[in-house]
Amino acid sequence: MSTSPEWWRSAVVYQVYPRSFQDTTGNGVGDIPGVTARLPYLSDLGVDALWLTPFYPSGGADGGYDVADYCQVDSQLGTLSDFDNLVAAAHATGLRIIVDLVPNHSSHLHSLFQSALGAPPGSPERDAYLFADGTGTDGSNPPNNWRSVFGGSSWTRVTEPDGSPGQWYYHLFAPEQPDFNWESPLVQRYFEDVLRFWLSRGVDGFRIDVSDALIKDTAWPDTADGNPLIPKDSASPVHDIYRRFRQIMDEYPGTTSVLETGADEDTVALFLRPGEMHQAFNFRFLKCPWDASALASAIAESLGATSAVGAPATWVVENHDTARAASRYAGEGGLAGSYVPSSTTAAQGAPDRGLARAKSLAVLALSLPGSAYLYAGQELGLPEVTDLPDETRTDPVFLRSGGAILGRDGCRVPLPWEGAAPPFGFSNAPQTWLPQPPGWASLTAQKQGEDEASTLSFFRRLLRLRRSHPALGTGRLVALTDPASAAESHVVVATLESEAALALGDASGRAAGRTQVVVNLGQCPAPLPQGRVVLATTELEGAQLPADCAAIVNLYAD
Ligand code: NOJ
Repeated sequence: MSTSPEWWRSAVVYQVYPRSFQDTTGNGVGDIPGVTARLPYLSDLGVDALWLTPFYPSGGADGGYDVADYCQVDSQLGTLSDFDNLVAAAHATGLRIIVDLVPNHSSHLHSLFQSALGAPPGSPERDAYLFADGTGTDGSNPPNNWRSVFGGSSWTRVTEPDGSPGQWYYHLFAPEQPDFNWESPLVQRYFEDVLRFWLSRGVDGFRIDVSDALIKDTAWPDTADGNPLIPKDSASPVHDIYRRFRQIMDEYPGTTSVLETGADEDTVALFLRPGEMHQAFNFRFLKCPWDASALASAIAESLGATSAVGAPATWVVENHDTARAASRYAGEGGLAGSYVPSSTTAAQGAPDRGLARAKSLAVLALSLPGSAYLYAGQELGLPEVTDLPDETRTDPVFLRSGGAILGRDGCRVPLPWEGAAPPFGFSNAPQTWLPQPPGWASLTAQKQGEDEASTLSFFRRLLRLRRSHPALGTGRLVALTDPASAAESHVVVATLESEAALALGDASGRAAGRTQVVVNLGQCPAPLPQGRVVLATTELEGAQLPADCAAIVNLYAD
């Protein structure tokens, strides 16, 4: 385990979706002891840290992102002592633990929201959330026209304790996810306690959900498009929240944070200024279509924005909100490579092409300077599951669109570990919370572990190489194909140099330390530079890189 307090600047973080990782109780739902049981697999894979999506008690309206108690473990997933055991075992194995913090909204079942419902308008209890009077003569219209991310109005009307129709509360997401009022001192103090609760249990950091949206324009003006007004500029009070978080985290040296924010790079960078948070997910890279020019500019602009504030970039190819990359990139001409939160289009296209592209993007993600995020199952090359029976689907995106949008369940199907039939060692239950496709028999971790040509073996090699190669992850990007020439060549070449080689300073020493990552986004083979190929996504013949493939080449053979 790296002993540097800044370990997170170049860490590989593996995202665990606990409900889908490993069930140890036979209820068909993954749990915390299941994560502990699989630590040897993760350590063998070669990651540095785990990020666990929410495992707290929840109303189950949004895959755990509707938290009913921030300082407890959902009884389906285990106990606090199971969590303590996980932290201890992970640390003993050399792995760090990052937990999810959901500060924008709670579950409607949270005691603070229940108290707010029981208290009168204008009370301090109501002030912990965003309540407002309705419009129209009898207040029966919502306070404004803002739309929820999951569809429909952002406002839900409550019945007052005396039975009369009452105020409305704001929810950026589902009605079961009321937004906190971050101008309330009570909320600020509450979350300071939540941070300390987990930090004092030994966690190494937080992934912060919807991090840029905590402050709303509470004059509640209508907007032309129904989108909410959420100030994020450099002077917005949202930055004070993170300065306070940072002060607390600095009391626990070596801890980190990673922000979930869909804002543009320059806005995201404001949250990463000195004294604010540590890093943010690179959604620009995650959403990038299979297009050389778009990829080159995503890399250049995200590195430019983060380095301007002294923060590391992050590289993300998959997460629990996005169709699996092996399916997302399967489409003709790369169009399916754009951000696809639903699984509707993911089955179209050629699966082999999708997997080849997914591996190539992983090569880039794990080579470029900064930290990299892997989503559980990405290392198995799992495809999106597009044919889940409707009655098994749980995503509010599916439920609230009346099934018109399939939603995100297709990338959250429990992992296949071993054996020839579901539940593939994930559980002893005959039925798992989402059913696994029988065809995953060829994709189990066990089967792939025995096959040198498998996706899992490839990821293991890639992660081992990243650890041993000084230019990967911790190096510097010294040259990158510019977007205009990438549009011509359909090839992206990132030239990396290790810090040690840079320190040598003289031209010959520096050139010898150079490594190129080459990704071919075109349809014809592309020439590889002269040098020693240290890894490729496919078997190479001569110095040609086939379409959809990537290679890492040390420029001067050593
Ligand atoms: C982002 C999370 O990743 C997603 O799963 C969730 O639905 C929303 N935030 C709301 O919490």
